Parts: sequence; structure tokens; C-alpha cells
Amino acid sequence: MAGITSRLAAALPLTLPLTLALMLGAASAPAWSAGAGAALETPRIDQGNVRSLQSGARHFINNCMGCHSVEYSRYSRLAEDLQLDETDVEANFIFTTDADGEPTKIGSLMTNNMTKEYGATAFGVKPPDLSLTARSRGTDWIYTFLKTFYLDPDRAGTGVNNVVYPGTAMPHVLWKYQGWQELGEDSHGDAALTLAEPGVMSPDEYDTMISDITNFLGYVADPIKETRHSMGVLVMLFLLVLLVGSWFLKKEYWKDVV
Ligand code: HEC
Repeated sequence: MAGITSRLAAALPLTLPLTLALMLGAASAPAWSAGAGAALETPRIDQGNVRSLQSGARHFINNCMGCHSVEYSRYSRLAEDLQLDETDVEANFIFTTDADGEPTKIGSLMTNNMTKEYGATAFGVKPPDLSLTARSRGTDWIYTFLKTFYLDPDRAGTGVNNVVYPGTAMPHVLWKYQGWQELGEDSHGDAALTLAEPGVMSPDEYDTMISDITNFLGYVADPIKETRHSMGVLVMLFLLVLLVGSWFLKKEYWKDVV
């Protein structure tokens, strides 16, 4: 017994800094994955807001899914989590067909028909699957990316560039809504974007739209986040009740000893 205790005591100075380093590392991980240099903006999003997720899903399917899949999600799961009717999802969200030419079924994964070859020919690189992008890049990055496309005549293919992803192969697919921005300088001489030609949405409406899309991509990357949080509260309550019970039990056991 003494051997184990002393061995544990010897290991403690080693394990403590290691545990702390791991915890701090985990906490600062999103900062590392952020784009170097450019300041990221944080959208006001809430994964518990089902209306925002519904709107994000609709915008994503209408504007992004032609190029990007979210191949770890199923339409049926989407319907359940977003409180949508399966027949509505089939009618309004599914535009693809399967290998036999039949409309994609509600239980299918959310893929699209873009091949690697086509993507590479059209854009130089296949538009990536976005299932886990909210984890790899972070939601701030996605939001700022969607907000900071600007006109750049030097970019032959798309005519646009992006502040957080310079030289990106993605065109400004939401131009109709946001309009066209230009890169200039503010009064302090810092780089700033100005709206050269407005789109059909006001800047506020556009922000709401891209926040909803970002929220949706956050949900796709971590669909059980809300369940986990409510489960966490229950677990804490259970432990609290257990603590009270154990404390009285301990008092009962020790009352004749001390
Ligand atoms: C016309 C095709 C096309 C459409 C439509 C499109 N994208 Fe893209 N997207 C691309 C391409 C190509 C890339 C790869 C860019 C690169 O690596 O330079 C990309 C990259 C991205 C990335 C970066 C992924 C990463 O980790 O590097 C995100 C995020 C993204 N797109 C989000 C969206 C969203 C959200 C929409 C809908 C509003 C959308 N895209 C619509 C073609 C498209």
C-alpha cells in the first residue's frame, strides 16, 4: 500500500502539468484553426434556436448544396432534429436523384452529384464536404468567410477574393443577396470593405442569413450538442442528490466513532 502511495506521489508532479497543458491546449484549439492574420467576427448564433436552423438548412440547400455535400447527415435526421415534417423535407429540400434516377429518399445521406473530376475542372479543386468544417475551421471563420468576399480584378476565374481565405477558388455565390464589396481603407488606414453595389438584402438581413447558415453548419458538425447540454444538467443534479445522501450516510456510519 505504501509502495503504491509513494509511486503515485512521485507521479503527481508529472501528471499535473501534463493534465493542465492538455486542458489549456483543448481550450485554445479553435484559435489555432482560425485563419492566420485576419480578424474573425463572431456571429450571434444559438444551436437551440430551431427556427434559425430551419432557415439555415433552407439557405444551405438552395445555395450551397449544388457544390458542397454534408455527407454525414441524413435528411430523416434533419427532419427530426429541426422539427420538420418528412413530407415537407422531401418536397422542399431534396432535389437530387440516386444512381437509378429515382428521387433521393428521406433516409439518404445529404450528398450531391458533383464528381471530383467535375469539381476539379470547374474550380481547380473539388468543393469540400462541409460536415465537419465548423469543427476544423470554427463557426467564426465560416461566418467571416461568407461575409468578406470582395471584387478583385486580378482573380481571373471568379473575379473575387476573400479576406479570411485569400485566393479561394469559391465564387461569391451569395452576391445576389449581399451585393458586391470592394476593398479599401478606413480613416485609420486599415483595410476595410465597402458595399459598392447593394444586393437584394440589407446588410442586416444578409448577416442574419449567413448567421443561420453558419448555425446550421455548426449543428451538422455536432448534432447532439443540445442533448449533451441538457443531459449534463441532469447528471449534475443527480450527483448533487447523491452527494446529500452520501453525506448523511457518512454521518450515520461515523456517529459512534467520533
Ligand atoms: C459553385 C460552387 C460552390 C458553391 C455553390 C458554394 N461553394 Fe463553398 N466552396 C467552393 C469551392 C470550389 C471551395 C474550395 C475553395 C478553396 O479551397 O480554395 C469552397 C470552399 C468553401 C469553404 C471552406 C472549406 C474549407 O475548410 O476549406 C466553406 C466554409 C464553404 N465553401 C461554404 C460554402 C457555403 C456556406 C455555401 C453556400 C452559401 C457555399 N460554400 C457554396 C465552391 C462552392
